[in-house]
Amino acid sequence: MSQTLSHSAHLQAAPTDPRLLYCDLMKKVLTRHAFGETWKRYQPRPGTLRSAAYESGRWLLNRGGLELVLRSQYDPQARAEGRDWPADAETMIGLQRLDNLQDCLTDVIEDGVPGDMIETGVWRGGAVIFMRALLKAYGVDDRTVWVADSFRGLPKPDPSRREDTEDALWKEHQLAIPLEQVKANFQRYGLLDEQVQFLPGWFADTLPTAPLDRIAVMRLDGDLYDSTMVALRSLYPKLSPGGYVIIDDYHSVRGCKQAVDDFRAEHGITSELRQVDWTCRYWRRTA
Ligand SMILES: C[S@@+](CC[C@H](N)C(=O)[O-])C[C@H]1O[C@@H](n2cnc3c(N)ncnc32)[C@H](O)[C@@H]1O
Repeated sequence: MSQTLSHSAHLQAAPTDPRLLYCDLMKKVLTRHAFGETWKRYQPRPGTLRSAAYESGRWLLNRGGLELVLRSQYDPQARAEGRDWPADAETMIGLQRLDNLQDCLTDVIEDGVPGDMIETGVWRGGAVIFMRALLKAYGVDDRTVWVADSFRGLPKPDPSRREDTEDALWKEHQLAIPLEQVKANFQRYGLLDEQVQFLPGWFADTLPTAPLDRIAVMRLDGDLYDSTMVALRSLYPKLSPGGYVIIDDYHSVRGCKQAVDDFRAEHGITSELRQVDWTCRYWRRTA
């Protein structure tokens, strides 16, 4: 990690520090790495015949207090590396990317880098819940965690953007998590308070006018070229020197990488793009 200790080094230096123990537990719970996932609720794609048939017979299940579930193949290695879409966990980014988030947050706190934290593309909210947990553990009460998402999945990409049309992620109903569910997930950990602010809507509508002045850590996880580019254009000018930009999907999503490469070239950014894991990259703003 940067100039300060990495999270694992922190652990070695102070293995009984309750802040680190709490963060460690939160990471294992938010990913479900601590106890795995053995089943997932059966949810046919909305709007399909199968879904209509299932919904019409649901009363029978309800009457018996039953739920239809599917057995889930849980692979602890894939989960740690953020390579699967969890059935129940609040985040899909895995343990290494949560370690990196922890390192970035503790760096800016310890170095006094001013600003808030934001994630653009939160899904069930696990990474932003972790940000709020860490601020609480470190007694930081003057920074806000901003939670930006449509809360209805990815937008349909611009058809001329070939990088973004390949994956058809906008059709994935599993990526559409309503705002109320994300709030409930924060609540589950006792972390929904005034230091958490929501920016519901498409990034193109919310980010350019988002009412945050300074940013210390911006984590981008919107997958698409346009989702990544609008976040960089809107938020990077507010990033403090010494602040971090984290790009979740740099190596796994072509449009995301292209947007980052284009933005860095346009702005002459030469700060080293550092590797977190098989896909995530980050850099620290120097000036
Ligand atoms: C891969 S998920 C994020 C995973 C999450 N960071 C985690 O911790 O598991 C991508 C999210 O980005 C959101 N998203 C992508 N593009 C968007 C856009 N242009 N406007 C609003 N939300 C967007 C989707 O709704 C989805 O929740």
